[in-house]
Amino acid sequence: MTDLLSRRQFSGLLAAAGLAPFTAAAAPKAAMAGGRKVIFDTDPGIDDAMALLFLHYLPGIELLGVTSTFGNHVVDVTTRNALYLVERFKIDVPVARGVGIPLVGDYGPPPVYVHGQNGLGDVPVPDQVATKPDPRPAHKFIIDTVRAHPGEVTLLAVGSMTNLALALRDDPDIAGLVKDVIIMGGAFGYFGNLGNVTPASEANIHDDPTAADEVFGAKWHVTAVGLDVTHRVEMPQDYLRALSQEAGEVGKFIWDITRFYENFYRKSGMPNIFCHDASAVAYLADPSLFKTRSGAVRVVTDGLANGQTIQKPDSRKFPPGAWDSRPSQSICIDVDAEKLRQLYRRTIIAGGKALAAAK
Ligand code: BDR
Ligand code: CA
Repeated sequence: MTDLLSRRQFSGLLAAAGLAPFTAAAAPKAAMAGGRKVIFDTDPGIDDAMALLFLHYLPGIELLGVTSTFGNHVVDVTTRNALYLVERFKIDVPVARGVGIPLVGDYGPPPVYVHGQNGLGDVPVPDQVATKPDPRPAHKFIIDTVRAHPGEVTLLAVGSMTNLALALRDDPDIAGLVKDVIIMGGAFGYFGNLGNVTPASEANIHDDPTAADEVFGAKWHVTAVGLDVTHRVEMPQDYLRALSQEAGEVGKFIWDITRFYENFYRKSGMPNIFCHDASAVAYLADPSLFKTRSGAVRVVTDGLANGQTIQKPDSRKFPPGAWDSRPSQSICIDVDAEKLRQLYRRTIIAGGKALAAAK
């Protein structure tokens, strides 16, 4: 039985008890305080910016903070971009600067051919923004925030997993205090998906395979939203153009930053951009859009396949091996792409209206 089926059964039980499961349409934006608590760990990044706006405008979410990491650019730039995004879109949360290098090895050079010289598709972004980062490093911010809300916080990580691994190393008990962890990362071979940095490895995992292996091995529940599903969620140019016409300043910003991204994809032979990080947000909002498979996950941390993610499905028996004694985690293996796009569109249009009304 998949995680999807058990979730459906759970939803049925909730309905029978007269309780509505969480869905994006379940609560108006005004009811956010007391919503589902989230820390967003990110490397903005064009698709990270698209995901942050989606998260911010989703009903039922209480965003507690943004933590920056390296990946789509060096951490100085991703932190500046996170600060710029929260300031420009009036997202009233702290931004804590994260780590700039992996636990093992080096980082770089940044993939400016994907996200632009400034990490946001080269739309004009000031070198400095007025908003200052939280004084704590990202992993301390994560520890403090999780300890302030035991059992309530979802860690939603869409860059390298280094901040999460550092938080675990510093305070291993937080694993038992986190509600759950959702990551955008990995490639598990569904629908023939390979990595996107090497044939073996997806970018967020490739940036720090050791951190990712520690995150998958901790005693918390991780759901990986990897290339197996994000490569199935394309956002065609017509869809993005409609957003720019229907979703006010928010839609126009998404259109502007995706011009560079789209160009990169086209030059790589793909007509449309993929919806990577926003798919992880969609999993948080409505897991019924996805089908999952459970089992322990290992990450290859050296050699030719460095950064490869491999799950041992709970349904399969193998001789003793490297997956034993590791917690069972979930990986996404299918997605309703059309419903996901509709959810994104509805949310961003509502966000455009909310931002206009706030001005
Ligand atoms: C992931 O890598 C980054 O380029 C994107 O922001 C996304 O998080 C996709 O492999
Ligand atoms: Ca990212």
